[in-house]
Amino acid sequence: MATKPAAKTASDSERTTVDLEDLPGVGGTTAERLREAGYTDLMELAVASPGDVAEAADIGLAVAQKIIGEARRRADVGGFESGTTVLARRQKLGRISTFAKSLDELLGGGIETQAITEFAGEFGTGKTQIAHQVAVDVQLPVDQGGLLGEAVYIDTESTFRPERIVSMAQGAGIPPDEALARIHVARAFNSNHQMLLVGKAQELARERPIRLIVVDSLTAHFRSEYVGRAELAPRQQLLNKHLHELLRFADTYNAAVIVTNQVSARPDILFGDPTRPIGGNIVAHAATYRVYLRKSKPPKRIARLIDSPNLPEGEAVFSLTSEGIRE
Ligand code: GTP
Ligand code: MG
Repeated sequence: MATKPAAKTASDSERTTVDLEDLPGVGGTTAERLREAGYTDLMELAVASPGDVAEAADIGLAVAQKIIGEARRRADVGGFESGTTVLARRQKLGRISTFAKSLDELLGGGIETQAITEFAGEFGTGKTQIAHQVAVDVQLPVDQGGLLGEAVYIDTESTFRPERIVSMAQGAGIPPDEALARIHVARAFNSNHQMLLVGKAQELARERPIRLIVVDSLTAHFRSEYVGRAELAPRQQLLNKHLHELLRFADTYNAAVIVTNQVSARPDILFGDPTRPIGGNIVAHAATYRVYLRKSKPPKRIARLIDSPNLPEGEAVFSLTSEGIRE
C-alpha cells in the first residue's frame, strides 16, 4: 500500500505518509527498527540527525545519511513558503478554553494550537489540574471552548487521575466514560521513554483526531537523571530535541501542547536561581507561552504570563474546585 511521496510539505494533518521500506537502503528490519524508535514517516526521518538514525536502526553513518537525504528529497523539507501560506496556517489556529475566563483572556483566548504552553510553579499550584481540565475541554465543540478533539496525556509522575476526569467531565457536560475514552494516557518511565512517546502520539494522531498533547511533567525525569554540572549540556540538548518534536507535532496536527515544569523551593537540587523553572533558556525558546503559577488564598491561584511574543504580560486569578478550574 505504498502511496506516492508527498509533493509538498503539508502544514496540516493531510500529510501523506510513505512506507519507509520504499526508501533505498531500507529493508524490513531497518524499517521496523526505525519505526520502533519513533521514525514513522518521511518527515520525521528528514529532520533527524544521521547519528540518531544510525543508532536507532543499527546501521552505518553513511547509510543513515543516504536515507535521510532521500527522505528530505521526497518530503520536500526546508523549503520556503510564502507569507500567504503562513497566514493561512495561522488562521487555522484553534484555542481550547481552560474554563477560567481570566486565564483564557491572559492567554489571548485560551490554550493555542500550533504552540507550546508551559505551566511552571511550585507543588500544588494547579499544573496537573489545568492539564486534566484542558484534556476534557478539548473534546467540546468549538462554540463551547473545545476543538472536538482527543488528547494524549504523557504522565511522568503517575499523577493522572481518571476520577478527576470524571468530575471535570460532569462539570463540562460530557458523559464521563466518553471523556475518558478520548484521553490516551501513557506513563513515561524515564526521559528516553518520554521522548519516544511523542513518536507514538504521531502514530495515534493518524487514526484519531488528537488536538492536544500534555506532558506532565516535562522536566521531572530529566532533572533526576541528569544531575551535576557536567550533565547540564546533554540534558539541555535532549530537552531541546524533545520540545522541538512536540512543536513539530503541534504544527503537523494543528494541536495544542501543554507542558508542566515544577519550580522547586529547595535550592540544593537545582542550579542557579531555585525559583526559576528548569530547562532555563531552552524551554524559554521553545515554549510560545510560559505561565507562572503561584498560590493565593485557597482555593485561588494566580497565573502570570511571562515572555510572550505577542501578548502583554499580566496576571489572572482562578480557582481549583472539585469540578475543575473555574473563574
Ligand atoms: P506538583 O505536580 O506537585 O508540582 O503540583 P501541581 O502544580 O501539579 O498541583 P496539582 O495540579 O496537583 O494541584 C493540587 C491541588 O489541586 C490541591 O492542593 C487542591 O487544591 C486541588 N485539587 C486537586 N484535586 C482536587 C479535588 O478533587 N477537589 C478540589 N476541590 N480541589 C482539588
Ligand atoms: Mg502535578
